Amino acid sequence: MADNDQNIKEAMHHDLPSADFQKYAHQTVDWIAHFLETMREYPVLAQIQPGDVKKKLPPHPPENPEDFLSILSDFEEKIVPGITHWNHPRFFAYFSITGSAPGIIGEMLTAALNVNAMLWKSSPSATELEEVVLDWLRQMVDLPPDFKGVINDTASVSSLCAMAAARESAGLNIREQGMAGRTDLPPLRFYSSTEAHSSIEKAAITLGIGQDGLKKIPVDSKFQMDIAMLEKAILDDLQHGIKPIGVIATLGTTSTTSIDPPAEIADICEQYKLWLHIDAAYGGSAALLPEKRALFYGWERANSIVVNPHKWLFTPIDCSVLYCRQPDILRQAFSLVPEYLRTAEADQVTNLMDYGVALGRRFRALKLWMVIRAFGQKKMTAAIREHIQFAEKLKHRIDDDPNFELLAPVPFSTLVFRFVPRIQMPLSAAEIDHLNETLLNQLNGTGQVFLSHTKLRGHFAIRLAIGNLKTTWEDIEFTWNLIQSESIKLLNSL
Ligand SMILES: Cc1ncc(COP(=O)(O)O)c(C=O)c1O
Repeated sequence: MADNDQNIKEAMHHDLPSADFQKYAHQTVDWIAHFLETMREYPVLAQIQPGDVKKKLPPHPPENPEDFLSILSDFEEKIVPGITHWNHPRFFAYFSITGSAPGIIGEMLTAALNVNAMLWKSSPSATELEEVVLDWLRQMVDLPPDFKGVINDTASVSSLCAMAAARESAGLNIREQGMAGRTDLPPLRFYSSTEAHSSIEKAAITLGIGQDGLKKIPVDSKFQMDIAMLEKAILDDLQHGIKPIGVIATLGTTSTTSIDPPAEIADICEQYKLWLHIDAAYGGSAALLPEKRALFYGWERANSIVVNPHKWLFTPIDCSVLYCRQPDILRQAFSLVPEYLRTAEADQVTNLMDYGVALGRRFRALKLWMVIRAFGQKKMTAAIREHIQFAEKLKHRIDDDPNFELLAPVPFSTLVFRFVPRIQMPLSAAEIDHLNETLLNQLNGTGQVFLSHTKLRGHFAIRLAIGNLKTTWEDIEFTWNLIQSESIKLLNSL
């Protein structure tokens, strides 16, 4: 016993003493609370140049322990100025997100527990909580009980796994024999719209299907997949000896948040026996709202669906949920159990390592559980509903301004628009693009807001995505006023 005590003491000596941990952790929590409270005082987009952060950091690691207070002060002075504040209420770029307070606390506890949820045995609570909390989320977005979820880091990985399961379901022995040099294997094909996220193409590359193995189907005037073109592409491929494997439909595309019609695509997938994967990484959260469910009608017929709580469900990065209606196929694609990972209870439990590429996995369910419990479904739904209402209100402002035009419908909380000044000498298309790029740079250069861009039908477009819990209508109004005043400045300088 005495020996044991001594061992424990010595081991402790290699980490911060408990009293120090308590002191610095309290200080850090105080810093976090103040940071969250005073967020609006920070520039949203880091106002620095490439290399500025590196210049402030020593090129070699410290030989000896450094005082923790000086590490914290360097964090504040050298790291924070180089942060683009995704938690800022006027962060409207890409998809606006929230690392909410319950989620931050969840992350702290996850770090403290430091479990690897690869096997049920390697941390039973991590596995079982993941199963329970993903079933809660399934109910919240109104999917049937046969969808089983697993958490991945990102939607990119969730879609990669789904497409690997699709390939596995085709029964081509690719798991065993690979694809290279096989004369018995026809070229394989996935289909998505031209608006699908680049992660789908990356998955095709990673899976050996190749970029040519992903056929990008044109979209209609609302940026939704053209179903007639999808069916034509499948028929053309069948005629030419190419084997269709699956379709990736996006509910909430990255550029415009357009919605590929899920029921019609499900009909085609059922007719041609194709795997249907739905990328609802952003849009899926809107399924919490009963009044938005019609947009999702038919997604329950998909084989797999990805929804990212780290996008619009107030959960800190990273947390992406992959739902699968036939989890056994996902397992068949990935399960490989070396001797050292064999466990006696394997037949009775879920071993999460069997459902994806990585062996090790963080305990991400904890933060999601805390977020859902701390807010409850009602508050989460109300927050998403409010973001959509803000977007609708801003849409009217844009519609009413003759110098701006909306470039896409607004089904959720993201607006895509551009500045087209009504002036006597009309500008060329290239000049309008340049004007909008300049406007965006000016806006982001103020540090007051951060918006991003996309290209629609070849034209530069400004995107404004609403999704942060602390965003108020005043933030949106402030941003719209800034957009207008910066555009007038630009106009005067023409
Ligand atoms: C529709 C859609 N799918 C997938 C992704 C990729 O998400 P992740 O960063 O989680 O891989 C994005 C990113 O914005 C997205 O908009």
